[in-house]
Amino acid sequence: MRLSVLSTKGGVGKSTIALLLSKYFSLNGVKTLLIDRDPLGWVSNLAKIKGKGLLASIADKEEDKQAYFKEVKTKDGGDFYILKLYGDGARFYVDLDIIRRDEKLYKKIKEKYQEIVRNGFQAFIVDNPSMVQWNDDEVQCELRIFRETFPDEKIFRLYISDSSEISIESTLKYIKEIEQTPHKIGQYLGIVINLVPPFPEDLDKAMRLASKFEGIKVVIPFIESLFILNDINVEIPEQVKYLGKEILKLNNKV
Ligand SMILES: Nc1ncnc2c1ncn2[C@@H]1O[C@H](COP(=O)(O)OP(=O)(O)OP(=O)(O)O)[C@@H](O)[C@H]1O
Ligand SMILES: [Mg+2]
Repeated sequence: MRLSVLSTKGGVGKSTIALLLSKYFSLNGVKTLLIDRDPLGWVSNLAKIKGKGLLASIADKEEDKQAYFKEVKTKDGGDFYILKLYGDGARFYVDLDIIRRDEKLYKKIKEKYQEIVRNGFQAFIVDNPSMVQWNDDEVQCELRIFRETFPDEKIFRLYISDSSEISIESTLKYIKEIEQTPHKIGQYLGIVINLVPPFPEDLDKAMRLASKFEGIKVVIPFIESLFILNDINVEIPEQVKYLGKEILKLNNKV
């Protein structure tokens, strides 16, 4: 199974939820690779991958695997793996240009990517920058190789929003755009409304807003321990455990 985490707005918790789900899956015996597809490399940074990421390493003709791959050991045993794809912000576009002009470099990336993803993983969780579209380089560059490697892997998309009405509306619109593209692959999975003020009336309102969406719906309040997250060992909130359980249930059925 492959699960892509998406949102329209920045800072709504994509990376946090991608990370917590990776931990949850791993704790439940599902070998998980978190693919960091954000050129800012936030989760990779949290996992203390200090290197430049796969694309930049190959563009610089370096082959140090530690620059883009790591097994993350957590205190509770929810050990998972991270692949940092791009990293280092703006140089992604420069690297992409270099690689596009050199077939050998592209082949090398594919080879190194496959070396990592072909390790018996049962789940791939993909963290994205905000507002990605099908044709974005960040998406196509990786998705193409993934599909070539695993043509039959089930693909799901999970959307994250905060509870402001403007975000909810833009997320509904975004879901429509992404899910109604004729050449889309994979399927819609559900919505997380995150960072809801932790008061009964706000949580109720968020639940009502969630009912505008299809599929799995989860409301996550603002949780102190997740704020300014800087420790991979943070406890998994109940709501994320519920989300993880629902995803695993669904995955067993399909
Ligand atoms: N439920 C929550 N309660 C409190 N803080 C949270 C919660 N979810 C996420 N955060 C915090 O909110 C901030 C933004 O989260 P995160 O970086 O995961 O968002 P993002 O959607 O990945 O952002 P970007 O678009 O910049 O990649 C982080 O500091 C994170 O620790
Ligand atoms: Mg992020």
